[in-house]
Amino acid sequence: MCGIVGYIGLPEKSAEHHALDVLMEGLRRLEYRGYDSAGVATVAGGAVESRKKSGKLANLVAEIEQQPLTPASLGIGHTRWATHGGPTDLNAHPHFGDDNKLAVIHNGIIENFAQLRQRLSAAGHVFDSQTDTEVAAKLIGEAFQATGDLTEAMRQAVNELEGAFTLLAVHPDQPDRVVAARRNSPLVVGLGEGENFLGSDVSGFIDFTREAVELEQDQIVTITAGDVSIINFDGSAAAGKRFYIDWDATAAEKSGYDSFMEKEINEQPKAVEDTLLGRTDAAGRLTLDELRISPEQLKDTTKIIVLACGTAAYAGTVAKYAIEHWTRIPVEVELAHEFRYRDPIIDETTLVVSISQSGETMDTLMAVRYAKEQGARTLSICNTNGSTIPRESDAVLYLHAGPEIAVASTKAFLAMIAASYLLGLYLAQLRGQLFSGQISDILADLHKIPAKIQKILDSADEIKALAQAMAQTPSVLFLGRHVGFPVAMEGALKLKELAYIHAEGFAAGELKHGPIALIEEGQPVFVVVPSPRGRDSLHGKVVSNIQEVRARGAKTITVAEEGDDAVREFSENVFFVPETQPLLMPLLTTVPLQIFACALASEKGYDVDQPRNLAKSVTVE
Ligand code: F6R
Repeated sequence: MCGIVGYIGLPEKSAEHHALDVLMEGLRRLEYRGYDSAGVATVAGGAVESRKKSGKLANLVAEIEQQPLTPASLGIGHTRWATHGGPTDLNAHPHFGDDNKLAVIHNGIIENFAQLRQRLSAAGHVFDSQTDTEVAAKLIGEAFQATGDLTEAMRQAVNELEGAFTLLAVHPDQPDRVVAARRNSPLVVGLGEGENFLGSDVSGFIDFTREAVELEQDQIVTITAGDVSIINFDGSAAAGKRFYIDWDATAAEKSGYDSFMEKEINEQPKAVEDTLLGRTDAAGRLTLDELRISPEQLKDTTKIIVLACGTAAYAGTVAKYAIEHWTRIPVEVELAHEFRYRDPIIDETTLVVSISQSGETMDTLMAVRYAKEQGARTLSICNTNGSTIPRESDAVLYLHAGPEIAVASTKAFLAMIAASYLLGLYLAQLRGQLFSGQISDILADLHKIPAKIQKILDSADEIKALAQAMAQTPSVLFLGRHVGFPVAMEGALKLKELAYIHAEGFAAGELKHGPIALIEEGQPVFVVVPSPRGRDSLHGKVVSNIQEVRARGAKTITVAEEGDDAVREFSENVFFVPETQPLLMPLLTTVPLQIFACALASEKGYDVDQPRNLAKSVTVE
């Protein structure tokens, strides 16, 4: 949510890196975090200059073309996902202190903003916008008037703020620095030579440096062209943790695809392969990326609670089926935002597994913190190295799926499922629940999955043609059973998010308990059909569900296993996926549904990378 970038270089470097170019490049890469308005402020010749504009970044670019900025060697930039105040030019960041010189940008929500605004208004401050950010700008401005020191002004102001925020500030009276603070909201520092950077995430400066520093909670960083200094909110000195960014800048480019979404759907074989890569030690035993609790403690787990939101929560439901089956540990899956408010039963033998692509989702972060306070052990499945949730967890399994830029999740979903399987197998190995031969058989099947995903991608044209033909459809239903159920939910979510079509996912068995009333002549219903192989196959039951909806006029589109020719009779269209073990099927059956949603939305002319109202990283509760 909200992309933030800051830059400072030596004045003589400005010919090489004009601050504005660095900021705009960063904003271009961060636009996926929010795109309802954008703005910049630069400092040059003892003055601050700002441009801001509602709508996409392109509007800001046009505005700057019309009203160019003086070349500068420092500045801040923002791309917004509105919380307080609509997406207007006025509410776009930066916001200013009373002197109209202090410029501030912000990500997050200041929870006590109403009280602060009332107090500041009573003291004579005049507000131009409806944002909570302007309250912070007035506070920092007031403290700067008193102290003349931007770092100290930031420190005093943040101690009055409650909630979640990353704040960046510049002031022309201290033209050698950019000051930033963070609480419950992401911020990383990029280290250059004679220049330094700030970003909501590393993509904000990945074109310029690979050396970065992580900040802890409640810290303030002051960057100058030659130095980075960090203090805690109480003023004590602090040090950040350095890390190297191993993402390739081209990984965050479209590489010839029309959209990041298409690129990321097509990257799924590699994403799953990378998630599975290098997971065994010399003895062939599975390992995690980081383990800050003993394997014995993990082994004694009596209950697992999976916490996640949205797509990640559907990956969590697949995880439940697999982990329970392989470990016999009971698994609950809970939407992270509901978890804290229902007095959950947790103790030190509970393992709380959070699943998050960004590692910054506020609902998930807060739920993990709550679980920790209650004594649970926490394990993070996450795609973003160094993000807050894995940093605060006892153990980590990174997805290694590469940057996911399209707002709606695709490759991270498959990678999360693959990582959940690894976790299930790891726990089964610790507990001796599966023989090593069984684990290596499942791993061998998992390693065959990327090629099978590729096969589905290679036959995408048929799915795309159906999507194009269905562009005017007002509603689509999705049915699945067992691990096909979360796949149906995910198929429906993708269609809602990308194509703004009413879509619902149901457990196929639930249909006759209510949702069947929705079926009328011509209603399209996607059905994720389980494999017909195996003694416990639910194939027959799902075929009965198909008959039930067809009898009431539904048009059924099935996703079935290769060789399941019986379903042809009950389907207007069938998309076949290669065979694999039943529990691993979601890694394959999800793919046609993603392609369908993306193609249908594209046919309608929508921006599949940045669907309306959505933000990639939901850093507010
Ligand atoms: C849907 C989607 C969201 C996210 C959810 C959690 O396509 O992307 O539902 O899955 O906001 O985000 P992370 O995984 O970053 O915690």
